[in-house]
Amino acid sequence: MWTRKDLQHLIKDKMGDYLFIVVSNREPYVHVLKKGKVEWQRGAGGVITALDPVMQACNGLWVAFGSGEADRKVADNKGKLKVPPDNQSYTLKRVWFTKEEEKGYYYGYSNEALWPLCHMAFQRPIFREEDWPYYVKVNEKFAKAVIEEVGDRKAFVWVQDYHLCLLPKFLKEMAPNQLVVAHFWHIPWPNYEAFRICPQKKQILEGLLANDLLGFHIRSHCENFLDAVDREIESKINRERFSVTRKGHETLIRPYPISVDFDGINEISKTSEISKAKHILVEEFGLAGYKVMLGIDRIDYTKGIPERLRAIDRLFDEHPELKEKAIFLQMGVLSRIHIPRYKALNDEINAMVEEINWKHSTDNWQPVIMVRRHLTFFELIALYQICDLCIVSSLHDGMNLVAKEFLSSRSDEKGVLILSKFTGAARELSEAVFINPYDPEQFSEGIYSALKLSDKEIKKRMVKIRHVVQQNNIFRWAGKILSELLKFEFKE
Ligand code: F6P
Repeated sequence: MWTRKDLQHLIKDKMGDYLFIVVSNREPYVHVLKKGKVEWQRGAGGVITALDPVMQACNGLWVAFGSGEADRKVADNKGKLKVPPDNQSYTLKRVWFTKEEEKGYYYGYSNEALWPLCHMAFQRPIFREEDWPYYVKVNEKFAKAVIEEVGDRKAFVWVQDYHLCLLPKFLKEMAPNQLVVAHFWHIPWPNYEAFRICPQKKQILEGLLANDLLGFHIRSHCENFLDAVDREIESKINRERFSVTRKGHETLIRPYPISVDFDGINEISKTSEISKAKHILVEEFGLAGYKVMLGIDRIDYTKGIPERLRAIDRLFDEHPELKEKAIFLQMGVLSRIHIPRYKALNDEINAMVEEINWKHSTDNWQPVIMVRRHLTFFELIALYQICDLCIVSSLHDGMNLVAKEFLSSRSDEKGVLILSKFTGAARELSEAVFINPYDPEQFSEGIYSALKLSDKEIKKRMVKIRHVVQQNNIFRWAGKILSELLKFEFKE
């Protein structure tokens, strides 16, 4: 089993004097202003969940967009500071955007074009002509920020996600002999029929083929990527080696299922801080004595939140005996709210919650509690421990780390995971109760069957499924990618 120490050794023994740089759009720590005082929060999303423990273990440099209103106040004149703020172990370098850049690159091309293009959630991508130049410009800006740090040294650069498709190409053009570059794609890669509508498909593929190593969560995403290259780009594809050679440069394509720091979360879950947080949250939301069904998501149309609410509504229709006995708690972190589709989703969720509560509630009980607020890491783990069921109902998801965080938190070996078949996680977590979020009847019966499982059966499933996450942990994911990356030699 890979541990934090194994990863540290790998980096110490093999990385030598080379720099190690991670680049992502989202930053791991955000500084905000609260009542005029600077405070910090952990950034949201799977990239942060996965990479923060890796960076804490290996003490590298992380380059990301400085999105917090108080970010500049705590960074030096190169945008740098040591993080985590309460346990400084690596360096964060913040890149600053103008409002126009944020609009065109982040809200526009990344999240209204590429995000819906890659997720099969039946949301039409919007390719605005004016967004693309900002996407190009910001990718170049990230490249300059990396090169500023590299100087005349050599570096392993690890790029994250769909915001930065062009970065590898810019990097290789700016410093052809100094860099080995890997890229991890955190969301699904769609099949060719879906991908071919993208007007900038060639530039996207060419950008990604400047990488030495390109990783996806699962093999079918790798195959979809190879199909797209095959149809669009003059290159040699080696299906045995799983690689693409273009203009004399080879890119390896590999599946690496991402995960979480199982042991870290498991240990924290046993502490007195978690017991205290549980107590406070049970009081705050009035959960004592109820079967608690939990959803925790960024408010995003790929997460299947309306579908989940429909299943809950149906559950109380079909099984009224559950009224006053069970509660569904949905925690939502607001996301990308300047995009109209996200605002509409938020409104739709509010209306559904109101409707369901109106329909089923009694004098002393309401079926759904919807909370939108930032959760601390302790609160997150405490909530995972409070619930009887954790419901993950994504319409399409590269992996889904909520599922793996939930399992890592259950050191008491209780609780059931309800999991959408359309997540990458479904390939590994075979002891979950699987649902199809598009099928309200099957979904609500899945929830019902999970509520009826015996304690013995719950424990049996939990022990098995936790073992899978413990083995396939985040250090294994990073270790596998970095072991492959470290095999590359710098050009002379
Ligand atoms: O984990 C997938 C992901 O899309 C990340 O790339 C992203 O940072 C995260 O979800 C959250 O989205 P955002 O950064 O737009 O809030």
